[in-house]
Amino acid sequence: MNRIDLGDNLNVLPHIEDGAVALIYIDPPFNTGKVQRRERLHTVRDEESGDRSGFQGHRYRTIKLGALAFPDVFEDFLEFIEPRLEQAYRILSPSGSFFLHIDYREVHYCKVLLDSIFGHECFMNEIVWAYDYGGRPKDRWPTKHDTLLWYVKDQSRYTFNYEAIDRIPYMAPGLVGPEKAARGKTPTDVWWQTIVPTNGRERTGYPTQKPLPILERIVRVHSHPGDLVLDFFAGSGTTGEAAARNGRRYWLIDSSPEAAQIMARRLAFSSPEHVGFAPEYTNLQPPLKGIHGTTAH
Ligand SMILES: C[S@@+](CC[C@H](N)C(=O)[O-])C[C@H]1O[C@@H](n2cnc3c(N)ncnc32)[C@H](O)[C@@H]1O
Repeated sequence: MNRIDLGDNLNVLPHIEDGAVALIYIDPPFNTGKVQRRERLHTVRDEESGDRSGFQGHRYRTIKLGALAFPDVFEDFLEFIEPRLEQAYRILSPSGSFFLHIDYREVHYCKVLLDSIFGHECFMNEIVWAYDYGGRPKDRWPTKHDTLLWYVKDQSRYTFNYEAIDRIPYMAPGLVGPEKAARGKTPTDVWWQTIVPTNGRERTGYPTQKPLPILERIVRVHSHPGDLVLDFFAGSGTTGEAAARNGRRYWLIDSSPEAAQIMARRLAFSSPEHVGFAPEYTNLQPPLKGIHGTTAH
């Protein structure tokens, strides 16, 4: 079974059986999923006309700048994500793995939450996806990475197919001898991978599309052929493509009709069932370029 659902994942997840899924990868939007655009608010201390109380009882005033308000938005985000993470834990198989792909600014909050749901001992790795794209500010180190948190349901029986890990070139091949150099080495917890090329065949046009090689590595190493792989913030369906191309089944959920249509077209080769929508292949002619350029959140 391969399946794409259009809908709020919190309505779909309760219908998935306990322990049914071998691998879950999610890449949620930072901003609660209610709106795609972020508002930026700047809070200044203002004892006289401040409209809310804050740290140590001081009064604060909020100024709208145009995008993103960290504390407020983030409190919403934790509230939004927690029941979904609880569902993820319930439906994960006893040897299953869970991956949360998240921005460096909120990863630490998410880790505390995940520790409380999965147990601190079931945290396995913090994987850094490092890329090199876009502008370079001159007032700090350019932030060019996302974080993936890997948790398992049971630390004594999880899937980790070491032999399925792809090999990468040595940095100094001259130091290891020709045989080793030709074979390459296994990656560490820092994964160098370019973003989805703007004009490449892989690009669907979906704003936050993640690179297929990242998902293929996760699928191959953390699941077996025939296993069910779930992504309930599926976007353009990268997880589905990685699963289908590696002989796994997929279940993808997204609340955006545009995402559902893009997935239907991208994954038509794997004949998914469509739930909650009818695919309109004719209305979406490839390539869907130019909606947005970057892969970041
Ligand atoms: C960062 S994107 C995922 C991108 C995806 N990893 C890819 O490679 O294309 C997050 C997705 O979550 C979806 N989303 C947000 N809130 C949701 C909800 N409550 N239920 C299901 N999907 C949701 C958005 O529509 C968006 O497509």
